[in-house]
Amino acid sequence: MPIELPDYRDKSPEVALRFERINHRPVVLHVDRVGKTFASRHGPVEALRDITFQVRHREFVCIIGKSGCGKSTLVRILAGLESTSNGRVLLNGRQAHEPGPDRGMVFQGYTLFPWLTVKKNVMFGLRCRGKFPAEAERDAMEWIEMVGLTPFANAYPRQLSGGMKQRVAIARALANQPQILLMDEPFGALDAQTRAKMQSYLLDIWQNVEVTILFITHDLDEAVFLADRIVVLDANPGRIEEIIEVPLPRLRDETIFLDPRFLAVKKRLEDIIYQTSQENSGDTEERFPIKREERLVRDIL
Ligand SMILES: Nc1ncnc2c1ncn2[C@@H]1O[C@H](COP(=O)(O)OP(=O)(O)O)[C@@H](O)[C@H]1O
Ligand SMILES: [Mg+2]
Repeated sequence: MPIELPDYRDKSPEVALRFERINHRPVVLHVDRVGKTFASRHGPVEALRDITFQVRHREFVCIIGKSGCGKSTLVRILAGLESTSNGRVLLNGRQAHEPGPDRGMVFQGYTLFPWLTVKKNVMFGLRCRGKFPAEAERDAMEWIEMVGLTPFANAYPRQLSGGMKQRVAIARALANQPQILLMDEPFGALDAQTRAKMQSYLLDIWQNVEVTILFITHDLDEAVFLADRIVVLDANPGRIEEIIEVPLPRLRDETIFLDPRFLAVKKRLEDIIYQTSQENSGDTEERFPIKREERLVRDIL
């Protein structure tokens, strides 16, 4: 017998109230009619068209879409690493053209400096911004504690597992106290179990730190588990198909994966993302290898 799923838009009074509260908070990030066209050997490639959405203070927003739909392009624009062809990006009402410590970044590829210890990696941005060594070290150790890596403060990245490296990357980004944390498929290279742990972990951190998160993924479960709202992108050119308010309460744990409301949202995402699929699964990872992210991070810190 097929299971009857609720409408993915149905909210309990508790969840509806939560969204009402969120919608009264100030807008941290305003993406306003952003478009991006690349020049390529085969002519112009329109990667993004008319992207408009807002992220409010301490909201957790996920952007989801197939490979090649422009997610990384969008996040690079938000980070100030790429220009827009149209539209603008406002951070706390101000236009942001260049990378800055007000936007923290965590990429899929491991971007720690291999020649620095965990502690020195986290201190790096703080020192760049003029903090004295003792103060930078104290701050860094607090963030390392927050991600549970105190015993590894003097270890080098090569001595850490993938999940641990990403925890350091999160600590390093948060140490700058960014207005928004931009995460581009940060757990994409991890095995399923580690990935699930990292998701719970990230929610814990988000609950304890005053930070707004924009998280890019192509994983449906990950998006529904993490997000308050999900911005669903369609490809060629990348544009917004729908913005979904996830009707699930906080706090969330693994039991939520079996919740009919969870399944209803996931089904909706499947319907939108995979209905037109098959023909254009442009995999961009090979053309823009992860190594590139390493260089980008250096521009931000
Ligand atoms: N620097 C670039 N020059 C030309 N085309 C690009 C460039 N960066 C991205 N693209 C194109 O823009 C589209 C979106 O890419 P990307 O943002 O990497 O997608 P996603 O992260 O969703 O997989 C793809 O068609 C890709 O080939
Ligand atoms: Mg990408």
